[in-house]
Amino acid sequence: MAKIVGGINVTHVPYLGRAIAGNLQQEPYWKPFFDGFPPVQAWLDKVKPDVAVVVYNDHGLNFFLDKMPTFAIGAAPEYHNADEGWGIPTVAPFAGDVDLSWHLVDQLIEAEFDLTTCQEMLVDHAFTLPIEMLWPERGPKTIRTVPICQNTVQFPLPSPKRCLAFGRAIGKAIEAWDSDARVVVLGTGGLSHQLDGKRAGFINKKFDLEFMDKLVTDPDWISQYSVPDIVELTGTQGVELLNWVTCRGALGDKVRTVHTNYHIPISNTAAGLLAMETV
Ligand code: DHB
Ligand code: FE
Repeated sequence: MAKIVGGINVTHVPYLGRAIAGNLQQEPYWKPFFDGFPPVQAWLDKVKPDVAVVVYNDHGLNFFLDKMPTFAIGAAPEYHNADEGWGIPTVAPFAGDVDLSWHLVDQLIEAEFDLTTCQEMLVDHAFTLPIEMLWPERGPKTIRTVPICQNTVQFPLPSPKRCLAFGRAIGKAIEAWDSDARVVVLGTGGLSHQLDGKRAGFINKKFDLEFMDKLVTDPDWISQYSVPDIVELTGTQGVELLNWVTCRGALGDKVRTVHTNYHIPISNTAAGLLAMETV
């Protein structure tokens, strides 16, 4: 059966794409964030995952405000990069894992998570940048991928409790996949940020750090909060932390922290990185 080696939660700000394209990772503005990656890359070299299941939110690329699935999954052999703007360079396509995608579709619908299946799907910065940062030397064979989108954009959004349960169902399904593949789960976005409105620029370091800590030791802690609570505590785009919650749910009861990093700000966002190993 497949094995989940661990999970990595990381911020997905488009501006990071400019830093990668310009090779600016060691410039003073970027260094405190990019310095978080070498220990995580070293861990990936050790655990050698074959597939990444990437939990993220689409930013108007596949789903706009007129059609918005709460949960959607890609089941394509390849995912091409496009983006909503910000001038970041388009990167090479990402290999899919169609067998794992369909296995997840079957198992998750059986587990009463009625997600939308997408046999064609474009991927935006929320999918591409975390992969670019974790596998900077990526070639066509480096990692196969399965994109899973959660609606963090158009209300109503799934609750933290629901995302944790969805993640747990994803974890169970991966472990029931008849394959010797090693799987890493990613959750992208967050942490606290608000891009528009009266509270534009809002950041809550105290909550972010507590969230990162509790996600490792007591993931059910987040279930005490509603979606409006999370918006109040972390900003209108801070709710992207729901993707971290789903990723954590997939990892089972106990995890060990591999590495963690937190830096304010990258663009408008409190930039976090949290890598966890299953135990
Ligand atoms: C920013 C953050 C995001 O999550 C996003 O999707 C786009 C932009 C930002 O901080 O600039
Ligand atoms: Fe975002």
